[in-house]
Parts: sequence; C-alpha cells; structure tokens
Amino acid sequence: MGTTHDIPVINAEAAWLPFTGNRAFKDNPAQRTLVSAKGAYYQNAAGQTLFDCLSGLWCTPLGHGHPAIVETLKRQAETLDYGTGFQFSNPQTLRLAERIAERAPAGLDHVFFTNSGSESIDTALKIAIGYHRLRGEATRFRMIGRERGYHGVGFGGVSVGGMVANRKMFAPLMLNGVDHLPHTHNLSEMAFSRGQPKWGAHLADELEKLVALHDASSIAAVIVEPMAGSTGVLAPPEGYLQRLRDICTRHGILLIFDEVICGFGRLGDWFAASRFGVTPDMICFAKTITNGVVPLGGVIVRPEIYQAFMTGPAHAVEFMHGYTYSGHPLAAAVGNTVLDLIDSEGHLQHARALEPVLENAVHALRDESSITDIRNMGLAAAVDLAPIPGQPGLRGYRVFEAGLQKGHLFRVTGDTVAMGPPFIAQPAEIETMTACLRDLIRSVPNH
Ligand SMILES: Cc1ncc(COP(=O)(O)O)c(C=O)c1O
Repeated sequence: MGTTHDIPVINAEAAWLPFTGNRAFKDNPAQRTLVSAKGAYYQNAAGQTLFDCLSGLWCTPLGHGHPAIVETLKRQAETLDYGTGFQFSNPQTLRLAERIAERAPAGLDHVFFTNSGSESIDTALKIAIGYHRLRGEATRFRMIGRERGYHGVGFGGVSVGGMVANRKMFAPLMLNGVDHLPHTHNLSEMAFSRGQPKWGAHLADELEKLVALHDASSIAAVIVEPMAGSTGVLAPPEGYLQRLRDICTRHGILLIFDEVICGFGRLGDWFAASRFGVTPDMICFAKTITNGVVPLGGVIVRPEIYQAFMTGPAHAVEFMHGYTYSGHPLAAAVGNTVLDLIDSEGHLQHARALEPVLENAVHALRDESSITDIRNMGLAAAVDLAPIPGQPGLRGYRVFEAGLQKGHLFRVTGDTVAMGPPFIAQPAEIETMTACLRDLIRSVPNH
C-alpha cells in the first residue's frame, strides 16, 4: 500500500499539464503529484494513499510495479534499448505482432505499431484512405465518426470524434468530409441499464441515411468505440454493432473499432469485437497492452488490407507512414510480458468475475437523488450526477477533489464519474470505492 517517501519540494510553475485545470492544480500541487505506486494504489506528495479507481487512464489493470514487468524493462534495456523500426525490427516487436494477431478475432492478422491511441487512430484513417486508393477507389475519402466518440487528440481523431469541447477550439483544423452518426445514449429508453441496453440497434441505420446523402462511393470508413469510454461508459445497444457491420459490408465501407480502452481485457475478453461477436476491418489498440508502463499502440488489419499495400517494387516503401518509436523494443518486450501475465495470472477471468461485483455495487447507488444515470459494461462503469444549476461540471469536480481526501482517485469528466478498477482489485475494494462515492455525493455542496 505504498511506501513512505520524503515529501519533495514542488514547483509546478513551469509545467503546462494536459487535460488539466492548470490553475486549480497549482493551488495544491502536492496532492496531485503522484510519487509512487504499487498494485492498485498511488502515493502522492502529500503523503496520501489513493485507490486507482480508473486503472490509471484505463491502462494499468495489472497493477503498478509488477515485478515481472520491472524485470522485463531492465533486461530489455540491457539487451536492446532502441533499434530503428524503419527497414529494421527486433525480435520482441515481431513476436508481439504475431501474438496480438493470434489473439485478435479471426480474419485480423497484421499489426502496425504506434505509440498511443491517438496515433493508432490517425494511422487507421490513413490506412483506410490508402487502401481504397490502391484499389482504384480514391473517391472514397469520407470518414464517419459518432457523436460522443473519443478518438484521441490527433487532427484525424478530433475530426471523427464527437466531443464538442475537444473540437470547437480547433474547428479550422478539422478534416474535410467527416460526418457523424448519432450517439446511442437515450435516458428515456435506457436509464440505469445493466450491461447492453435493449433499445437502440436501429440507430445503426442512420448510416444508411449518410450513404444516401453522400453516396457509398465517397465513404472510406466508419469508426466507433464498441463501448464508448471517455464520454462515460456507453455500452452498445444489443444488435447495434452487427447492424453497423452489415451496412458497412453492403456498401464496401471499412469498419474500424477503436478498442483503445476495450482491448486486452477490459470487457473480459481479448477484444470487444470478440465479446460482441462482431469483427471489424481494423482494430485500434493502446493502453492495456503495456499495462501503462511504456507507451505503445497499434492497428490490427485484415489480410486484404495489408495485401492491398504490397504492390510496386519489393525494395520500395509501401506505406509512407511510421513513427521513430513504432514498435519500440522496450514497449514490445513489456507487451510480451503483459500477454504472458494476462494468461498466467488469469486476468481475463478476473475481469469477468469482477464485472457483476462492480455492476451490483454501482447500481446500489441508484437511490441517490443527485444521480441521473448509472451504466456498466465489463469492468467499467459510470455515474452521471445532476449538474449544479448554471455550473456544469462543478459537482463532478467537487466529488473528484473530495475523493482525494478520502483516498480515492476518481476520474471525473464534467459531471460524470467513470470507474474502471484494476483487474487485480478485490471485491471489497470495489465495494469500498462505491461506498466512498456515495459519501462524496452526499457530502459535496449542492449549490
Ligand atoms: C477510445 C480512445 N481512443 C483513443 C484514445 C487516445 O489515446 P491516447 O491518449 O493514448 O492518444 C483514448 C484515450 O483515452 C481512448 O479512450
């Protein structure tokens, strides 16, 4: 549960922190400066121990400081700390691609590595455009995203994403020709859903309307998160993803699943595609593959997509795309160890076993008057709080701040509290987390 550390002297002034209220952070930097972590707990510079309610940012489900991962890092740094990924590779990266392809749904078998979710999305969008062009269908340039989608912060990801706060400041930089499906969350039809809502499969048919508007010959790809994470754990309505799949297949449109959160166990399966029984043409992943220890992401594609690029002279580069750290040997070595650990420590089983524990614990909060919705899917859940009139986000922020005092690091976006505990969490810790949330909701001021 964390070790004792000397409390460091903190000067936060020079730092400009991402997705952070920087001025609020700088009011009390010690509380928000994480100095160490072990298992499911952080220690901050104020000496507090905090339960990791969201597994980092959905990325550390095997727990912090895992000895096998630490050992791998050390060994790999001594063996091959870096090697260029352009015209070269290394055994760890090649092996990891093979092992990810083995775990991906049948029919997805080539892996292109990146360093993050955002890079994976931009890569997948480029692959989609390139694929159609190489097949002589360069007219297919449109991308279809979805409202309330989060696909990272690259220009591509923001364009296909559906979070207005992330888009409005950068409106001039949006990609051309992007359209959006409606989101699937409808309180009057699905408030307090456990798992997949029954209502909403028909919303996939909105894609037919976009095809009628733009014509299929101009549409390259549809991208969705099978379960939307960042906008508050929106599980797909039953039948929705299959319907999207069918429409895409009918019109020659590529279907991309953004599994940056879902992939590698969050839904109790290797991929959401396997859990929902729907196979897309590409899967974007990141997060859990290295347990958050070293940045790594990637795109898994169908063989036809890979083969479409394998034209021209064999010595020529087929896809003018890649990152200096694509397939970094340290990241890949950790990725291989994480796959070993998911198998040997039974993490998919843990996630599955904890799913009903989390579901029951969060839905037990239903009688709290300031809660407007509760949702869960896999080892993920979200609670919507009624905004304080005229001050959206304030109630959520107060819950977040008060949570730190109570030893819980909750992830709050606006007035939504998201929870994605580590796979190593004990049922009692999940119960304590939701009991804490109840206390916080009751104790923060209402105005
Ligand atoms: C679904 C999804 N896609 C993409 C991203 C972006 O990933 P990154 O922050 O690694 O760029 C995230 C991050 O939370 C995500 O949840």
